[in-house]
Formats: sequence, structure tokens, C-alpha cells
Amino acid sequence: MQSVTVNNLVFDEYLSKEEIATLVAQVAERINTDYAGREPLFVCVLNGAFMYASDLLKHITLPAEITFVRLKSYEGTATTGKVNMLIPLQVPIQDRDIIIVEDIVDTGLTMHGFIQYLKEEGARSVELTSFLFKPDALQYPDATPKYIGKSIPTAFVVGYGLDYDEKGRNLESLYVLKK
Ligand code: IMP
Repeated sequence: MQSVTVNNLVFDEYLSKEEIATLVAQVAERINTDYAGREPLFVCVLNGAFMYASDLLKHITLPAEITFVRLKSYEGTATTGKVNMLIPLQVPIQDRDIIIVEDIVDTGLTMHGFIQYLKEEGARSVELTSFLFKPDALQYPDATPKYIGKSIPTAFVVGYGLDYDEKGRNLESLYVLKK
């Protein structure tokens, strides 16, 4: 098995780039079908989702648009629907069909707050795609992604946009922390 070292920790390959490509194409196909006749606005959550969003959008055949946000959530504020946007939304979302593009949903705290915010701002619909989902770690059920690349056990992963202390985002495959 192929391993990598990121910031002195060893990770084993979990998904190859070929496996990732297959999973991403499958998600895109579902979105293309479900959103036929609509013009969704994809909202890519930086930094982690940059690779997933890039690959996903290449397979989207709809007249789609994409924009980017960077979020920081705090336990106290997210429960009231407030999220701190380090990079705020740049486009109006009133009456838009929003598809949030995330790298991973863990506890769901970040997405819980953001979904609530988008609805309050007047989005017509809000759905979530996350390349990875850790169902056993979920604490906010409304943050369950509709379109999931792969559900994984509660373990720490890096690569394909995901970082360990800001390193490892550039890896083409996905790696899991070695036990
Ligand atoms: P949540 O708010 O608990 O769902 O956390 C979501 C965010 O935590 C993701 O957008 C990632 O930035 C980070 N995160 C959660 N699990 C992992 C992981 O296994 N590797 C890298 N980052 C992670």
C-alpha cells in the first residue's frame, strides 16, 4: 500500500485518483438528472473543496454557475444560524437553486450554520454535495449531504483538497491516518 508523510504523520492510501474520478462522475450524473431544466449556483467552500469542485463541475452539463466562500464556524453562533464568512458570498442568491460543494462533512457544524444562512438570505432551494461524509461523527442531521462521493468511518484523512495543518491538499489520492 502506498503511504505518504504529511507534517511527520504517516497516512496510507485510501482512495486512488481513479476511484475518486469514478465517484465524482457518479455524483455529477445524479445532479445533472435532478437539476434538469434548472440553472443551479454551485457554492464551493474553500479551501478544502477546491479540487472536488473543479472535478465535479467538469462533469456538470447544466447551465451552471459557481462561486466561492470561505467559512469559519463557532459552536455558539452556528446554532443560531450565523456563520463567519472569511470570504463572503459575491453573488445574490435570492430565488437561486444553491448546491453547496464541500470536501467533507464531519460533525456537520459548519454546514448546519451555512445552510440556515442561505435559506434566510432567500435561496429558492439549498442542497449539499460533499465528497466525503463521516456519518458516525454527525451531530447536526440537517447537514447530511444529499449527494455524497463516499461515506467513510470516523478517521482523519488528507489529500484531494483536504489538509493536515494546511499540508497535503495537493495530493491527488486520498489518504487515511495510519493507526
Ligand atoms: P464539521 O463542521 O465538523 O462538519 O467539519 C467540517 C470541516 O472540518 C471540513 O470542511 C474540514 O475542513 C474539516 N475536517 C473534518 N474532518 C477532516 C479530515 O478527516 N481531514 C481534514 N479535514 C477535516
